[in-house]
Amino acid sequence: MKTASAAALLLVGQAACAAVRPRNYTTIDYNLAPPNLSTLANSSLYDLWRPKAHVLPPSGNVGDPCVQYTDPKTGSFHVGWIMSQGLGGAMTDDLIHYQDLREDGGPIISPGGVNDPVGVFDGSVFPSGIDGMPTLLYTSVSFLPIHWTIPYPRGGETQSLAVSYDGGRNFTKLNQGPVIPDAPFGVNRTGFRDPWVFQNSKLDAALDSTQGAWYVVVSGGVHDDGPSQFLYRQYDPDLQYWEYLGQWWHEPANSTWGDGTWAGRWGFNFETGNIFNLNDEEGSSPDDEVFVTLGTEWSYAPAVPEVSANHDQLWAAGKVSKHGNITFTPTMAGTLDWGISAYAGSGKEMPSTSQASTKAGAPDRFISWVWLSGNSFGMAEGFPAAQQNWTGSLLLPRELSLRTIPNVVKNELVHENGSSWRVAHNNASSLVQIKTLGVEIANETYNALVSGPSYVEPGRNLSQAGVVPFNRSPSSKFQVISANISFPQSARHSGLQSGFQILSSNHESTTVYYQFSNESIIVDRSNTSAAAQTTDGIETVNEAGRLRLFDVIPDGAQQKQIETLELTLVVDNAVLEVYANGRFALSTWARSWYANSTDISFFHNGVKDVTFGDVTVSEGLYDAWPARH
Ligand SMILES: *[C@@H]1O[C@H](CO)[C@@H](O)[C@H](O)[C@H]1NC(C)=O
Ligand SMILES: *[C@@H]1O[C@H](CO)[C@@H](O)[C@H](O)[C@H]1NC(C)=O
Ligand SMILES: *[C@@H]1O[C@H](CO)[C@@H](O)[C@H](O)[C@H]1NC(C)=O
Ligand SMILES: *[C@@H]1O[C@H](CO)[C@@H](O)[C@H](O)[C@H]1NC(C)=O
Ligand SMILES: *[C@@H]1O[C@H](CO)[C@@H](O)[C@H](O)[C@H]1NC(C)=O
Ligand SMILES: *[C@@H]1O[C@H](CO)[C@@H](O)[C@H](O)[C@H]1NC(C)=O
Ligand SMILES: *[C@@H]1O[C@H](CO)[C@@H](O)[C@H](O)[C@H]1NC(C)=O
Ligand SMILES: *[C@@H]1O[C@H](CO)[C@@H](O)[C@H](O)[C@H]1NC(C)=O
Ligand SMILES: *[C@@H]1O[C@H](CO)[C@@H](O)[C@H](O)[C@H]1NC(C)=O
Ligand SMILES: *[C@@H]1O[C@H](CO)[C@@H](O)[C@H](O)[C@H]1NC(C)=O
Ligand SMILES: *[C@@H]1O[C@H](CO)[C@@H](O)[C@H](O)[C@H]1NC(C)=O
Ligand SMILES: *[C@@H]1O[C@H](CO)[C@@H](O)[C@H](O)[C@H]1NC(C)=O
Repeated sequence: MKTASAAALLLVGQAACAAVRPRNYTTIDYNLAPPNLSTLANSSLYDLWRPKAHVLPPSGNVGDPCVQYTDPKTGSFHVGWIMSQGLGGAMTDDLIHYQDLREDGGPIISPGGVNDPVGVFDGSVFPSGIDGMPTLLYTSVSFLPIHWTIPYPRGGETQSLAVSYDGGRNFTKLNQGPVIPDAPFGVNRTGFRDPWVFQNSKLDAALDSTQGAWYVVVSGGVHDDGPSQFLYRQYDPDLQYWEYLGQWWHEPANSTWGDGTWAGRWGFNFETGNIFNLNDEEGSSPDDEVFVTLGTEWSYAPAVPEVSANHDQLWAAGKVSKHGNITFTPTMAGTLDWGISAYAGSGKEMPSTSQASTKAGAPDRFISWVWLSGNSFGMAEGFPAAQQNWTGSLLLPRELSLRTIPNVVKNELVHENGSSWRVAHNNASSLVQIKTLGVEIANETYNALVSGPSYVEPGRNLSQAGVVPFNRSPSSKFQVISANISFPQSARHSGLQSGFQILSSNHESTTVYYQFSNESIIVDRSNTSAAAQTTDGIETVNEAGRLRLFDVIPDGAQQKQIETLELTLVVDNAVLEVYANGRFALSTWARSWYANSTDISFFHNGVKDVTFGDVTVSEGLYDAWPARH
């Protein structure tokens, strides 16, 4: 769940959802300098920045992804989201094309019942629950505002059940009270929401549970004490009663993993916690290792008191142990998406029997979705939301995995406290294997993204500072750019910066580059949008995320070298997702204005030299919503 109070603002602040895609044919000339976009007619900017391959509702505000599941009857995968009137959703048979669950884009569950008079927040689904039907456990909200910065309103958030008998189009609330009616006794909570239901063999073993028991984690925290996950276990077949097993994970308030370099801050309040197992290529991870994704909230917003200005979208791996209470103890932690506006990630185990997996020949996998806030969590004051008619998007579906980096030189780069990796197979050899979380676009989604016309841009060796235009420009703002970038050993610790300038013309450009000085991928948005000069609420701040390129000796090579930077940029109009080396994601908005801001150039700052290879541009992407027109 994004901040409860932000959701509350949505509930009161938004008009009814669009029945049809709005159109206003008043011409705006994207070859001329932009006016103040806030002065234009409602919906007149609907298409300007709208992505086409992403999941988002037809109009209005989108928030946290939730309600994902594979319908056991049809094999369709469902993905939902928070919207102004409750939770909305869509289904897919291939992780490429989506169909709205309600034709009008309306909600599959809305607030207003006895348990949820003022709000319905994130929920997750037992695919085969009550009566064998998809059953939603969601946060039912009775009092607002709720935020970790203010005293908690008693009874504010409870967890309730609703069942769908119509293929997920409508979830019918049980005519009864909540199944988790209150936070544990004596806990002065900062939040108590986003129940996530899961089964887990490692918890079964540690707790001596019936195999296949359901568990729930509720995310939140304790005032003046720090963030927590509250763990529960199924008590009865009807999912009515939940045995409290304690705060299985708790961190001190505003503390960090190590010094915070790799995994931000644990903050004051956890949100949207997911728990899952991952196996590597050899089919296993240590018996007691489980994975978590979570959102953390950690600072005040000066302008909007009950919204956190800073959030981190994190992951952690850790050991499950039971000495007295069951506990989760992190062993490594990292950032699932480094984007400032990327938050509230949530996913689901997607079985091989899901239609999408059957078509792709994929095994069981964990697919994760992250929200990209469209207005800086409500802090982008003046953003032309009515002119655009929609706000925010979900990011591309990502497969999470336990990733191995082989042949890594055992030097100071691999040993670091608070890192987002661990060393495996550490033996007498001078090489080690590193394990970390793999984050990649789901296979079939990626294959569809690059299925359009593509061209190869000749590689370059650059040593001079400047930009070198591609021989050819894409014809639109919908593209995937991939490249392998190699650096000499002397680049380590140097001031080298290199990458690409995209969405560029003489008036605008966005620069995405790797910077050795602090091992970061930067997205420089200072010149991204001419509209930022005329219109409020269009961000220009840089984005940054950490990626360590280790020293490796690839099979067959003699000399150590810096790992090649494997970069993939997905440009879906104004949504930019940056992926690297199967273990890095950073998503952001790049809201160019001019029609001709489509050029691409190589970028290098002239420190040392750099080699760009395997540069491919795939054009067009695809329309994820064929039924919406
Ligand atoms: C379309 O835009 C024009 C010009 O801004 C405005 O006058 C008109 O009311 C708009 N039409 C609709 C249907 O919103
Ligand atoms: C709970 O924490 C809030 C915020 O620190 C405080 O105002 C309140 O008195 C606390 N309540 C109890 C019962 O300790
Ligand atoms: C959803 O189900 C509830 C309970 O059966 C019903 O009251 C409501 O009208 C349904 N909503 C829609 C939009 O079908
Ligand atoms: C330990 O678990 C019990 C329930 O078994 C719970 O009441 C208690 O609060 C837990 N302790 C902590 C620190 O979570
Ligand atoms: C949490 O710690 C960070 C880093 O020191 C600081 O910037 C932030 O203001 C702290 N949050 C609060 C609410 O004190
Ligand atoms: C996904 O793609 C990767 C890289 O192309 C490939 O190694 C892997 O086998 C694919 N997995 C599936 C399930 O198709
Ligand atoms: C434009 O949208 C705003 C905000 O949704 C609304 O208050 C206003 O009435 C709309 N104007 C028109 C002409 O529809
Ligand atoms: C979007 O446009 C539709 C159709 O014009 C309108 O009904 C709706 O209120 C608009 N919503 C927002 C959030 O601007
Ligand atoms: C990691 O932290 C431990 C305990 O604080 C310390 O003993 C050790 O030297 C640190 N290791 C590195 C590589 O910083
Ligand atoms: C030592 O570890 C390296 C890196 O994982 C591996 O290639 C090598 O086979 C291992 N050697 C032995 C003797 O296990
Ligand atoms: C792009 O369009 C702008 C505005 O019409 C124009 O000034 C510029 O010369 C065009 N070409 C390039 C490469 O920017
Ligand atoms: C743009 O127009 C809006 C609405 O008239 C106004 O509030 C805002 O101050 C203007 N912004 C700029 C940067 O001129």
